[in-house]
Amino acid sequence: MIYPLALFGHPVKHSLSPQIHQAFARQFDLDIQYQLIDVSSDKLHQRVHQFFAQGGHGANITVPHKQAVMAVADHLTERAQQAGAVNTLFIKNQQLWGDNTDGEGLLNDFKEKHINLANQRILIIGAGGAVQGILPNLVKSQPESIHINNRTRSKADVLAQFSTLCYVLNDIDTSTTFDVIINGTSIGHQGNSPEIKPQWLHPNTIAYDLSYGTAAEPFLNKAKSLGIQQTHDGLGMLHHQAALSFQRWFGKKPCLD
Ligand code: ATR
Repeated sequence: MIYPLALFGHPVKHSLSPQIHQAFARQFDLDIQYQLIDVSSDKLHQRVHQFFAQGGHGANITVPHKQAVMAVADHLTERAQQAGAVNTLFIKNQQLWGDNTDGEGLLNDFKEKHINLANQRILIIGAGGAVQGILPNLVKSQPESIHINNRTRSKADVLAQFSTLCYVLNDIDTSTTFDVIINGTSIGHQGNSPEIKPQWLHPNTIAYDLSYGTAAEPFLNKAKSLGIQQTHDGLGMLHHQAALSFQRWFGKKPCLD
């Protein structure tokens, strides 16, 4: 039996998801076919329904459809509701469910990298869909605080209302340093980095970009040039969120080695 899987997004052609899921499937001798489906917003609903009507077993959703696809699913898991975004679709009792594995994937990657967020001061740069998706899990890891800094302040204001641990970074607060700085903006896709202020840093500050590969380089290179020694792109998060999606579809936990 061949299990049809797909990634819906725009663009999708550089995605590593097909290789990752093929590697997982090999661990369990499962035969999967993982398609990349480049789809515009106006066709999303129809293409997703068509895929599942034709026997689709499960799907991933990426930029820019993670919010819009919430309306396509019949039900949402609690973590998808909290994240306000869906990155995984699966079938249960003939109903289409939306789930979100991004936040838990990020925390699993931090765990693997021995980065403990408890009582840490976190700065997130950006306040778009990617940040909204990970915020509930970051709050659950019980940091001391999560400051949000965004070009458009009103979006940071909205996200900061999620928890009493969240704050909008205040320009006049110059005495604040951070243990972990997360870049959640999309600016790396244009070859640029958001600003990193030297006063935010201490000798052990960690920089993490939710993007991976070349999109993460501008931010991580800027971090290194400012003396940050521990820098990570989001490739580990990508692997972990994929493993959690795979688990949803097949009830089997793949090994990431
Ligand atoms: P995603 O779903 O990938 O998060 P998004 O919802 O469009 O995409 O959010 C993109 C984020 O990157 C936003 O925080 C955006 O800032 P604004 O809210 O001000 O738009 C940020 N971003 C994108 N381009 C940027 C730039 N050139 N400088 C600073 N921030 C930028």
